[in-house]
Amino acid sequence: MKAAVLAAVTALTSTASAAGLSFDITIADGLLNSSTDGRVLLLIAPAGTDPLDDTDVVTTPDYFYGYNAFGVASGDTLKLEGGSDVQPLTSVYGYPNVSLDDVEAGDYTVQAFMNVYETVTRSDGSTVTLRFPCGDGGEPVGGTGSLYTEAVNVTITGEIQAVELTFDNVTAVEDFTGSEIGGCAQANYEDWEQIRYVKIRSEVLSSFWNRDMYVGANVLVPAGYDPEDTETRYPVIYHQGHWPGPGGLYGYSPIAVGQANLEFIDAWNNGTVTNTTDPAPKIIIITIRHETPYYDDSYAVNTANLGPYGDAINDELIPYIDEHFNTIAAPYGRIQDGGSTGGWESAANLIFRPDLFGVCFSSYPDSMSFNRHQDIQLYTAANAYTLANGSDVYSIREAINDTLVNEITVAQENHWELTYGTNSRAFQQWDVWNAVFGAQGINSYPLEPWDKVTGEIYSEAVEYWKPMDLALWVTTNWDNELNLGEVLADRIFIYVGSWDNYFLNEGVMEFRDQVDALGGEGWANVTIFEGKEHGGNYQLRTTWNYLQFVVDWVEAHAPDGETPLSPNVTVATSRGNKWEDVIAAGGHQAALDRQADPELTASNGNFVASVGRWDSGVKLVAQWVVDGAPEGDSITVTQGEELTYQQSGSGWSGWSSWGGSKGSLQLLVTGTKGGYVDETRASNVVSL
Ligand SMILES: *[C@@H]1O[C@H](CO)[C@@H](O)[C@H](O)[C@H]1NC(C)=O
Ligand SMILES: *[C@@H]1O[C@H](CO)[C@@H](O)[C@H](O)[C@H]1NC(C)=O
Ligand SMILES: *[C@@H]1O[C@H](CO)[C@@H](O)[C@H](O)[C@H]1NC(C)=O
Ligand SMILES: *[C@@H]1O[C@H](CO)[C@@H](O)[C@H](O)[C@H]1NC(C)=O
Ligand SMILES: *[C@@H]1O[C@H](CO)[C@@H](O)[C@H](O)[C@H]1NC(C)=O
Ligand SMILES: *[C@@H]1O[C@H](CO)[C@@H](O)[C@H](O)[C@H]1NC(C)=O
Ligand SMILES: *[C@@H]1O[C@H](CO)[C@@H](O)[C@H](O)[C@H]1NC(C)=O
Ligand SMILES: *[C@@H]1O[C@H](CO)[C@@H](O)[C@H](O)[C@H]1NC(C)=O
Ligand SMILES: *[C@@H]1O[C@H](CO)[C@@H](O)[C@H](O)[C@H]1NC(C)=O
Ligand SMILES: *[C@@H]1O[C@H](CO)[C@@H](O)[C@H](O)[C@H]1NC(C)=O
Repeated sequence: MKAAVLAAVTALTSTASAAGLSFDITIADGLLNSSTDGRVLLLIAPAGTDPLDDTDVVTTPDYFYGYNAFGVASGDTLKLEGGSDVQPLTSVYGYPNVSLDDVEAGDYTVQAFMNVYETVTRSDGSTVTLRFPCGDGGEPVGGTGSLYTEAVNVTITGEIQAVELTFDNVTAVEDFTGSEIGGCAQANYEDWEQIRYVKIRSEVLSSFWNRDMYVGANVLVPAGYDPEDTETRYPVIYHQGHWPGPGGLYGYSPIAVGQANLEFIDAWNNGTVTNTTDPAPKIIIITIRHETPYYDDSYAVNTANLGPYGDAINDELIPYIDEHFNTIAAPYGRIQDGGSTGGWESAANLIFRPDLFGVCFSSYPDSMSFNRHQDIQLYTAANAYTLANGSDVYSIREAINDTLVNEITVAQENHWELTYGTNSRAFQQWDVWNAVFGAQGINSYPLEPWDKVTGEIYSEAVEYWKPMDLALWVTTNWDNELNLGEVLADRIFIYVGSWDNYFLNEGVMEFRDQVDALGGEGWANVTIFEGKEHGGNYQLRTTWNYLQFVVDWVEAHAPDGETPLSPNVTVATSRGNKWEDVIAAGGHQAALDRQADPELTASNGNFVASVGRWDSGVKLVAQWVVDGAPEGDSITVTQGEELTYQQSGSGWSGWSSWGGSKGSLQLLVTGTKGGYVDETRASNVVSL
């Protein structure tokens, strides 16, 4: 994208690290029209390479730094220097090295970007500053609307040095040529014979975010599809997964295996079959475009941090699709599938909406039980990064020569994410899980389940994840009014490899064991392929045979089929993940409701104070105040603790010199947490 030019020529052989290195980045005149907030990302890559080439956690650039630049304008120079991992990370923070002082002398190619944030007030009154993507799936770095400098060759000297860069350009909005509504959000593309592009303004999302929000769909129709046909009706696969762009059948899809995307679509449209023994299965395949302010997709459910995406897709987009395409508009004709993110989404959509969908074929899904969130024992562990015996918890592993090799730890990956953004704004995996599975904090951002720097798990924050724990959801609603034990029987198909690269087999096995314990072995059809890794077609079927298998399932479960899907199992009462419940449990009002000021009670000369209620992870310091002045040292306290005011104790002094003439007592408690504004809360005042 950007050519490298030479910025400095001095060649040095020193390997000293660069205490005193700074990057002075000027925002060119006219680039920003008003005060702007965003995250600066500085990539320091091997000399001669495109810094954007290697931004994943495995092949991350030599040095990668992030910096929150809030309230900046054209003409400003941002000075990036030093670096610290002391929360709340107001200074530079980097991966794999925290500080710019750690950069070794040498030759590099350097480029900076700035993701531009927008501040919105949600319908529940909370205000957040986030990046709203623009039809590109929200690239974590360098995406649409990002400021950028040129990539320049720089020699880091190891001495005091200021490298000057200029933000003088903005990544352009892609030129969409389809029938666009509402600008770039969710994009739209020009229809072609095989794929029709749908995009609607979502009422529920626009109302939640207080700005126009859209959802879109790529609709792949079978050969011979005739929009005017009023008779033929086709089953639909809702193929869940990441931002699909204009194609979207790549990637984790059982459909993509062994086939180039366009070739497949071409063959599909031609009605030509690679396997001439079978007629082409007649089915519509739909991928959804639902990029969000936290990730390239929404996880397709209602969540307190992302908003009512489940409702936008299921109650707005799907009715629109049913109205405009020749679909079987009934649960038995609506299939959920996908892998990884799409594996979780497809399973969750069936589990939360048995009234809408017939079945899920879900491959290597994200965690289906938070007993194992990847490999983290979220409900019981004290730390997400290390086991009790001090061993690292791993996030990524790979089979090398038939042996599983651990590669990247959960700590490394979270620290790498933290460089991309604070407050779960990285646009990366662990952060979006925090946003999707968790509640909103009182700071209006996701209530993170652990300290992103240290890995300390906050069990109260984890409690809020439980409604999104699919195993827990099914088993706790097994035989109540949701009746999921009966409703979901024979409708869940899951495939995973025992060597899943992200340990997702662990959550699948937890799910299987928990539901089988109630429903008997095979209640959910779970297939674990020994020695298989993440990705690919785990059903061991060719694409065509998979599609035929789906068509056969639909035929068998049609009203006139061999095993019709009973109306009993698609009743509206089986529905979960209701928006009003989600926002009530995890939104702004819930965050307000769990706060409390310290409270002081006086009884028979005893003065006892609670420290108030705070979000989990807030560190508290208390201070007695006597007659309006601090008394004694400040005291580190923990949530739930009670403090007793000792009139003659060590906590304060000077009672006697005051001659017992004091009038009033109060407790102040100050809370601090990464990503939160420091806050001091005062108790009521009592007479001494
Ligand atoms: C940047 O450095 C690389 C590697 O040393 C070199 O190949 C490339 O020509 C340099 N670019 C410029 C514009 O000097
Ligand atoms: C700044 O204003 C100019 C002129 O109205 C416009 O072309 C440009 O896109 C604006 N830039 C940004 C970053 O909004
Ligand atoms: C920078 O990080 C790398 C990789 O973790 C480490 O080997 C190196 O010692 C660090 N450098 C400094 C100066 O801390
Ligand atoms: C910005 O980028 C565009 C497209 O790459 C390029 O044509 C233009 O010259 C750049 N502007 C500046 C000021 O570098
Ligand atoms: C589809 O049909 C077109 C035009 O008849 C032909 O060029 C193309 O090769 C066919 N593709 C496949 C995969 O059959
Ligand atoms: C072709 O169809 C036959 C019969 O259904 C099946 O056994 C075979 O696996 C298929 N081959 C391919 C490549 O799809
Ligand atoms: C810590 O416990 C884990 C799980 O039981 C085990 O795999 C690992 O080898 C142990 N590490 C050490 C250092 O004992
Ligand atoms: C894997 O096995 C091949 C063949 O035995 C060997 O050449 C290669 O070095 C091995 N790779 C690793 C990473 O052990
Ligand atoms: C599980 O589903 C597969 C189809 O994917 C089927 O072949 C198999 O018989 C099922 N297993 C059970 C126990 O029903
Ligand atoms: C539906 O539920 C009713 C009431 O529980 C029951 O009598 C009936 O047999 C069920 N029908 C089917 C098809 O399962």
